Amino acid sequence: MEKRDGFHSGIGFVLAAAGSSVGLGNLWSFPYKTSQNGGASFVIVYVLSVIVLGSLLCIGEIFIGKWARSNPVTAYKKINKFYGIAGLIGIVGSFIIMTYYSVLGGYTLKFTVNSFQDQSNALQTFSANTWEVVLFTGIFILLCAIIISLGVKRGIENASKILMPVLIIILVGIVIYCLCLGEGVKEGLNYYLNPDFTKLGFKGALAAMSQAFFSLSVGLGILSVYGSYMGEKIKVGRSVFWIAFFDTLVALLAGLAIFPAIFHHQAKTGVALQESGIVLLFSSMPLVFAKLGIAGKIISFFFFGMVSIAAITSVISLLEGAAQFVSQTWKIKRLRVVIVLALVCFLFSVPVAISLGQGINGGHFLSLGDRNLLEVLDTTVNSLLIPIGALAVSVAIGWFFLRPKDRHDLFRPTLLAKKLKEEGLDLGKFTVVFAFMLQYIAPLGILFIEATGIVDAIWPEVGGSRIFSSEGLIIILIGIALIGILFVLYLLVFMKRDTGCNDDEERIEAKASSSNND
Ligand code: PHE
Repeated sequence: MEKRDGFHSGIGFVLAAAGSSVGLGNLWSFPYKTSQNGGASFVIVYVLSVIVLGSLLCIGEIFIGKWARSNPVTAYKKINKFYGIAGLIGIVGSFIIMTYYSVLGGYTLKFTVNSFQDQSNALQTFSANTWEVVLFTGIFILLCAIIISLGVKRGIENASKILMPVLIIILVGIVIYCLCLGEGVKEGLNYYLNPDFTKLGFKGALAAMSQAFFSLSVGLGILSVYGSYMGEKIKVGRSVFWIAFFDTLVALLAGLAIFPAIFHHQAKTGVALQESGIVLLFSSMPLVFAKLGIAGKIISFFFFGMVSIAAITSVISLLEGAAQFVSQTWKIKRLRVVIVLALVCFLFSVPVAISLGQGINGGHFLSLGDRNLLEVLDTTVNSLLIPIGALAVSVAIGWFFLRPKDRHDLFRPTLLAKKLKEEGLDLGKFTVVFAFMLQYIAPLGILFIEATGIVDAIWPEVGGSRIFSSEGLIIILIGIALIGILFVLYLLVFMKRDTGCNDDEERIEAKASSSNND
């Protein structure tokens, strides 16, 4: 029999999962959220969230996939028949992220290609030119689709093995360059890293926690998809240690490049640049590069190239999540599924591209009040879908993995630890701590994040006081309606239906390749 498709080496798995985790969340939103929420104090809460909650959920999610060797819907169904809904919510959530992430991916490609021109005003002109944005978004999706269509080993593992080391090398090079800029560097570092707990506050701490989830790609079943392809011998605990390490390292390093560069520009020109939102990446950074002469053009090329790589490896994982489910459920060949999904994603990304361009240039077409479609989708995913998915992981493992009678036992963490070891998740002495955390701490912590995330969306804090936001309310209601529709769809269609597993996929691919050989 032909060798199974899947991750062949531990390092290949770690790099692919780190590829999913390391993305725009690290290179862009982490640095600016840190600077806005009290510098080092935000970093401390972030790192704690990664260690105490994020990594444990990653272990849980990867384990579910590895144990079930199937897509997340089937995997959760194996734990409890109603639970497959969590897998479905994750897949739809991944698809939503993919639509807006690909537009940003298109932007990064465009800024890479045009690095050798002056891009000081490029954000306004490019974003308003919808056809060009759509073209670059299309190219970006096509690149991801090509990698995925080659399969897990030949496509995802091989691409990650090349792209991730390249990303790290470029990032370290850029950090060294930026730290050596001289004037303004100290102020930049100060702004980025000086702890200010008054600026962090409760809101900042919550932002750090949800940023940790998004950054680790946890809660949407993506890690469980990758886990389902990991070889028996690859260790879950050790892999997650390295994934979380890379993810956090890249986030921290990104800030060490961006803020010294921005403050250097300010010291040289006297002009303060905006450090947040889309403007930071596509307007402030090009302004910095434009002032650095030929070196700036080269750095710009590597900088945006690096961001493009990070975005590609994340979108690969998002597309893989949806592709695996569709292929296994309807028993269709990977290539066909990938082509259709890429096209659908492309179609959905067009309104996002239009709305974003409008937003940047002051228009409101295809937006909800003053929020463009990208912000609407991002809020839905981060305040609703990801916390629900994360909660699902902890409750599925923490409670439903136990036999019903053991759920009432006083020693349930110990019983769960024993059961997990039998099923192949051995974290040594730490297994009991893991079991305890997943049973009690994680669900409570996530419920708290979820509740405050919703409150924050509906009553955002503006200038120290909370005001009601009808747009926020609409976003949350749309999210709840979406979950309701998915729930009905799950009960009517997917709960009873066979939703397939990795073995089915092997069979389909084997059949397809043997009929090609005939
Ligand atoms: N973790 C990615 C980032 O930091 C985004 C992502 C979220 C990818 C969820 C897959 C799943 O940019």
